[in-house]
Formats: sequence, C-alpha cells, structure tokens
Amino acid sequence: MENSFVKGGEKNNNHQPPLSDAQSLSSSHSHEHQASIKYLNKYQNSIENKEAFWQEQASQLQWSKPFTQVSDVSFDKNDLHIRWFADGELNVCVNCVDRHLAERADQPAIVWEGDNPDHSISLTYKQLHEEICKLANALESLGVTAGDRVILYMPMVPEAAFAMLACARIGAIHSAVFGGFSSAALADRINNCEAKLIITADLGLRGTKSIPLKASVDEALTLAEGHSVDKVLVVKQPHGSGTPAWNDKVDLWYHDCVDNQSTEHTPPTFDAEHPLFILYTSGSTGKPKGLQHSSGGYLCYAQTTFKEVFDYRDGEVFWCTADIGWITGHTYLIYGPLAAGATTIMYEGVPNFPTLARFGEVIDKHNVNIFYTAPTTIRMLMADANTALSGSQRTSLRILGTVGEPISPDVWQWYYDDFGLQQAQVVDTWWQTETGGHLIVPIPDSGPVKPGAAQRPFYGIEPQLVDSNGDILEGETSGHLVILDSWPGQARTIWGDHQRFIDTYFSTYEGMYFSGDGARRDEDGDYWITGRVDDVLNVSGHRLGTAEIESAALTYSDIAEAAVVGYPHDVKGQGIYIFVVAKTGVESAETLTDSVRSKIRQALGPIATPDHIQWSPDLPKTRSGKIMRRILRKIASNDFAELGDTSTLADPSVVDKLISGRKDLN
Ligand code: PRX
Repeated sequence: MENSFVKGGEKNNNHQPPLSDAQSLSSSHSHEHQASIKYLNKYQNSIENKEAFWQEQASQLQWSKPFTQVSDVSFDKNDLHIRWFADGELNVCVNCVDRHLAERADQPAIVWEGDNPDHSISLTYKQLHEEICKLANALESLGVTAGDRVILYMPMVPEAAFAMLACARIGAIHSAVFGGFSSAALADRINNCEAKLIITADLGLRGTKSIPLKASVDEALTLAEGHSVDKVLVVKQPHGSGTPAWNDKVDLWYHDCVDNQSTEHTPPTFDAEHPLFILYTSGSTGKPKGLQHSSGGYLCYAQTTFKEVFDYRDGEVFWCTADIGWITGHTYLIYGPLAAGATTIMYEGVPNFPTLARFGEVIDKHNVNIFYTAPTTIRMLMADANTALSGSQRTSLRILGTVGEPISPDVWQWYYDDFGLQQAQVVDTWWQTETGGHLIVPIPDSGPVKPGAAQRPFYGIEPQLVDSNGDILEGETSGHLVILDSWPGQARTIWGDHQRFIDTYFSTYEGMYFSGDGARRDEDGDYWITGRVDDVLNVSGHRLGTAEIESAALTYSDIAEAAVVGYPHDVKGQGIYIFVVAKTGVESAETLTDSVRSKIRQALGPIATPDHIQWSPDLPKTRSGKIMRRILRKIASNDFAELGDTSTLADPSVVDKLISGRKDLN
C-alpha cells in the first residue's frame, strides 16, 4: 500500500496535519472531495451493489452450507428484522482456528504478555486449536449445549480466548462481563441472560492490584436469587492465593475439567443467525441491555473491517489493548484477527505497570505492526511523554488505531508524531457495541487524514445526519448520526427484549438506525463525531448510563434525589459528577460523601466511581418537575458564564446555590 499521507521525514513541528500530494494540489479547491478515487469508486460500488459486495466478503469465510440469500432486512419499526446469509451454516471457531491449520499450524495465533514483564506465552494456531478442543469437550461433558449462555468474568489470560472460542465452537452463547464490574452488576447480567455456567479465575492481576474475581462471583450468585447457574469453572492463576472459598456442588477447577480432555473435537455447524454472544452495554435509561450478535454476519464484518481498516498484511503482529469485556476486545482482539489468520497480542496488565514505558516496550518486544488503543490511554501516555517514549524504538509500527471516544487534534498529533514517529498512519475508528465493527473510519489509502476526524464511511455503510424531526440534512452541517441501511455486523436484538431494541434504535427516526451520537460533516463530506447526544457518559472510553449511576446513588437511604452529568476531564475524557439532595432531616450530609462514593462503586464497580459529589438543597427543575441537565452540565464544568434561560425554572435561586457549592468543591 502507498500510504497516502505519510511522506517520510521531517518532524512536523507546527502541529498541522501532514498533507498528501492530492491534498496539497487541491488545497486551493478545498470544497472538492479529497478522498482518493480508489476509495470513492470502491465505496460507491459497495453501496450500489451492496448485496454483491457483501456476498464477496462473506465468501471469504468457510461455510459448511453456502447461503443463497445475502440479506433480509427491514428497519421499519413495525416489521424490524435483520438477517444476513440466513440460510448458510458455519462454525465461527472453525473459521478462526481450524481453517488456518493447513497453512499456519506453527504460526503464533495469540501472544500473551503477562502483567509481569518477564511472563509471556506464544500459542501457535495448532496449540490454540488443542486448547479450544479440550475446553469444548469439557463444556460438553458438563452438559453445556448449543444456545446455553455462558458468562465469562475473566482476567486477560489465554483461557479467556479459549473460553470465547470454545463456546463459539459448541454454539453456546458467551457473555463476557468486564472484571471491573461489581458483583451486583454481574448478578444482574447472570439473571438477565439466565446463564448456565460461569467461567472465571481465582484472581485477576492489574499492575500491583489483585482482583478477587471468584469471590465476586460467589457474591453475585448470592445476590442473583433463583439463578440458573449450574457450575462455576475457575482458572487457577499462578499468583493465586491458594484455595478461594469453595462450594463443592458448584465450583470446579478449570484444569481439573480440561487437562485430561481430548485435543480433538468435531465441530457442529450452526445457522448464520445463531447468536454468537451477548454483550451488555449502558443506555440512557434503565438497566444495561444485552446486545445480541450473530455468527455469520458478525464474523464476516469482523474479518472484513479488520483486514481493510488495519490494512492487515500476512504475517503482521496486531495488538489491541482492549479488555475482552468490551466489544473492541471481541471484534479486534479475538474474532477479526483470528478469522484473518493474524497474530494477536493479548496483554494482561495496565499501561503504567511497571512504568508508563510498558506499551512501547511491549511493541518492541513483539514487533507489533498495528497498535489499537483508546484516546484515554494516549492522553495518559502523553501526560508523561518522556517516560512513555523512553526505552523503546517502536519502529515496527505501521498503523495506529484509536477507538472509544473523540480524539482531540493535539492528542492525535502526538500519537502520530511522537508515539508513531510519523511512520504510522492513524486510523480513528468510530463504532459501537451495537454495530459489531467499524462504521466510520479513514481507511488507509482512502485519502488525506484529518486529525480528530473519523471521516469516511466504511464500505457498504450509509451514514447521514438528521435534525430533530428526522429530516436528512445536506452538505456541511451538524446533526444526529443515523445509519440508513443494515450491515452484516449489526446487533440483531436486545436479549429478551426485542421491543426495547426497536424503541431504542429504530423509533426515534423512522426507518433509520439511531446511534445516539452527534456529528458534524465538513465541506469535504468528512464526519467528525462530537459525542453522545443522550444521557450516556463516556468515561475513559467506557459507556455508562447516568440513570444507572443515579439509581445506585438512590439506594443510599439518606439521599432523596440524584442527578449525574459528565464534565470534561483531562485524562478520562469525561468525569462523573453527581448532584445529590439529602432527605429532610439528614444533618451534615457532606460527611456522607465517601460512603456514597463507595456505595456506587459497590453497586456498579470501580469504573462508575464519581469524581465529584456535590450536595445541594435542591436540583434545577422546570415547573413540570423535569431536571434541567443542561444547567447541571455547565455547573459541573465550572462554566458559569452562559447558563441560558433559567426563567422557566420552578425556583431560579437554586442556580446560585449550585454555583457556590461548586466553587466550594474546587
Ligand atoms: O459515543 C461514541 C463513542 O463510544 C460510543 C460507543 O461505545 P461502546 O459501545 O462502548 O463501544 C466503544 C468501542 C467501539 C459511541 O456511541 N465512540 C466510539 N468510537 C469513537 C467514539 N466517539 C468518537 N470517536 C470515535 N472513534
């Protein structure tokens, strides 16, 4: 590939994006669309001949029974259905592992880098196949069958990958829950998907911290009254603390079940629409929703986007730093890279252990060519750039990906200039748990790249901006980001609540998928994601619903009302700010701040810990009782200048009290 803008060489000190020849030539006609002709032609073709385009992509998977129909889709809320390759049959695990054995048996499939810099393991495709077969046999002997739900509450260890792929192999539906979620959050998910089995570890390790995962599972099972879990399979970690609390009726050591199993397993095949996994994510209301993904369409989309967006070349080493508890850890740590026969790195630890130089060291140690992380991590590295860049060369890097939140131009530029030494193209990938894979992204070679912009639709994707009436906006404009037509990787439903799926995504704007994000389209037609337009926060790239945090706060008996908003945070992107009103009669409420904070941690997990808790005698409400969050967001952001019209408030004086309370907190 000719990289369209990386013109070797001089360091760009004025922090302007480097220009490609095409961009320089046409800079006097800035209204001309500057994407490359090659991309535009391919994109145009993918839209005009969508079925043929996806047929061609899907043919790069191994089907046990070929499909005859590419898609069967309706975004009409009265007849919503999304089916791709529906009469085809395949096995996802076979596509990720078995089919590579002929050519890649001895190629590393997963390179595991431990929390401890002296620990790493390289697993070839052959070894990965054996481990998965053993676990698949073990799961079957425990009575797990196709369609059963298996919760994975695991650290970033190879067994987590074995678990996902062994479930896929036998048709069990996995649901990974991030290890940073509390036992209460885990209990909700166990009940919601009616899990039959849980796979966990005695401990997880993140930097110097041990996470007692097995103990959290025990607590979750107590909380999840009437649950359907038969067995808990526990991976013993070398750094574990001996025997955790144990219930002989339920708990089993992973090694006791797996070690003696056969390394052969005959894979059954499944319909393309057979659910592959459920992944919970936060919305603006209610409890997290379990997005259900398919087998054939999802894998086709994971493989296609992986190869195209990262311009993957045979033999390259790919490192995605996401945890397997998130969608990025599914699509671009496991399914995409393995479907493509790549070598994927799995890192157990955190960016700053033993020091902030670790990521660079791991890149050099394993000769990583493509690196994929979140802006929050880049900001963390940038904040102590000397340490982050010390002790590594990073010359193997060719592509640098970013995901999860808007990346500001200065952070983008540092990533490109300093971390990637101006040798690696930055791809800012916009997508969501619901979308399964990248939707808007500057594909390498698609034209000049703009720092901070996700830019261009992926092949087959039709984004649009709409106003609040759902009318499509033309040209240079801002609006709500919708997608007009389906793509194979899209989530099919919310587990157990199809109506909520329709209401959340297909009812705001009829006939369109509503992303919940706002975006701007510039004069070249490029998209700039501006962030959520609903009550969802993005904290260090993690999605959290304000409603969830508020209900956790309200379980604290001294609190009458709570309102959560986000505010700009240097490293996390958004911080969590909570306004709380104490019940009448509660004295010295401020002294309760720490216990409210720990109550929320306990309910949801450390990632939902509020950064600021402000007690207030009241909240700003309209006369009809609606909280005016716009005002709270301004106050939390220390931005008191333009609060807008406050005359519709039932009690406008509350604003001054909130401002003085905010100043006291600073
Ligand atoms: O607001 C957008 C933001 O993250 C949300 C999706 O979060 P989640 O489902 O947890 O998936 C994260 C990983 C795909 C989006 O609605 N987001 C994601 N990527 C970007 C982004 N915002 C701006 N730029 C991005 N590249």
